[in-house]
Amino acid sequence: MVQAHTRIYGSGFVTGDNCVKNEALTRVCDTTDEWIRERSGIEQRYFVNEGTATSDLAVAAAKKALADAGWQASDVDYIVVATMTPDYYFPGVSSIVQAKLGLGNIPTLDIRQQCSGFVYGLQVSDALVRAGAGKKLLFIGAEIHSGFMPWSKHQWDVALGKSTDPVSQQDRDFATKFRHLTVLFGDAAGAVCIAPTDDPKRGILGFSLHTDGKDVESLYVPSAGFKYRPYFSEEHVREGRYVPVMDGRTVFKMAVTKMPESVNAVLAKCELKLDDVNLLIPHQANLRISEGVQKQLKLADDRIYNNIQKYGNTTAATIPIAYDECRKSGRIKKGDLIAFTGLGAGFHWGAALMRE
Ligand code: UT7
Repeated sequence: MVQAHTRIYGSGFVTGDNCVKNEALTRVCDTTDEWIRERSGIEQRYFVNEGTATSDLAVAAAKKALADAGWQASDVDYIVVATMTPDYYFPGVSSIVQAKLGLGNIPTLDIRQQCSGFVYGLQVSDALVRAGAGKKLLFIGAEIHSGFMPWSKHQWDVALGKSTDPVSQQDRDFATKFRHLTVLFGDAAGAVCIAPTDDPKRGILGFSLHTDGKDVESLYVPSAGFKYRPYFSEEHVREGRYVPVMDGRTVFKMAVTKMPESVNAVLAKCELKLDDVNLLIPHQANLRISEGVQKQLKLADDRIYNNIQKYGNTTAATIPIAYDECRKSGRIKKGDLIAFTGLGAGFHWGAALMRE
């Protein structure tokens, strides 16, 4: 049976165990707290301990969301996970999450739309529930960026405050090559519980999602791909080709243009106006990007939410983390109109509207 509406019944999030302040990164590569704050707004991020996998964060966030919704894990009949950092090259993490939650043989699905993973995954989740494929769906955005960091074991010890011994110049120089990227990211997961609602005034209202693959090399990981034989090699490691390549300026410009455009587009689709939006939760890529989006949309400070200062960019996890913080701090109230927007590698971007 096709359902008219779905809504979010619970949310939760977790971060990696280790809080790493900007200052710690200055001991790993040539960077400064001032540069990171000025260019991105980020003050700290969290990294997992070695051995913790994306599925572990996903499960921990899922348990919090389930408790918040008042659902038992055994109630869940569909899992969708958005991640670009799965535990293994294949399979995706959703099957591992299903097993770790001890669930029966329910269907699970991975999607990989990178920083727009939440808005895309929300559309997939909403559509699955409305189509009757699942009645209690768990949707998780989870990401571990630690594996991208071009750091030696000793550099990790220094970053995590386990050693004060200096880093070799060679390791420092190598890490410095990637500093514009590595200072931005952190590890975390956020989850939401989605089910049908009979209340016509609440729930997920619509989407405006887009893709343009022509500039794919502006943000991508150039190794571990089946363009190569073998798909991953020693040369890839030596050259640091496992670290994402990012043309920061191109991504920045795309983000400040496409996110406001898609917010306006979804509002038009739903026959609503910008003035109706109580809160915009943008993907947390860079505080300067959020400020650019805010300026384009002429939103007052209390109508946009940012928390990148505390977590860095956690890709598919940023929006569910922000949403959970807003719900639990009372920043979002029943009946509020919430807009979500994100842009990420692909490029994929878009916006979603939801009545809390
Ligand atoms: O969710 C999608 C993921 N990605 C993004 O959203 C990223 C979007 N882009 C950005 O956020 C910004 O472009 C960055 C924060 C990545 C970079 O800011 P920028 O203002 O575009 O700086 P830049 O890369 O043009 O570098 C400016 C200077 C350069 O030095 P010179 O050539 O002017 O001497 C860099 O070498 O800053 C230097 N630099 C750094 N200095 C200290 C680059 N990274 C760092 C660093 N610490 N971490």
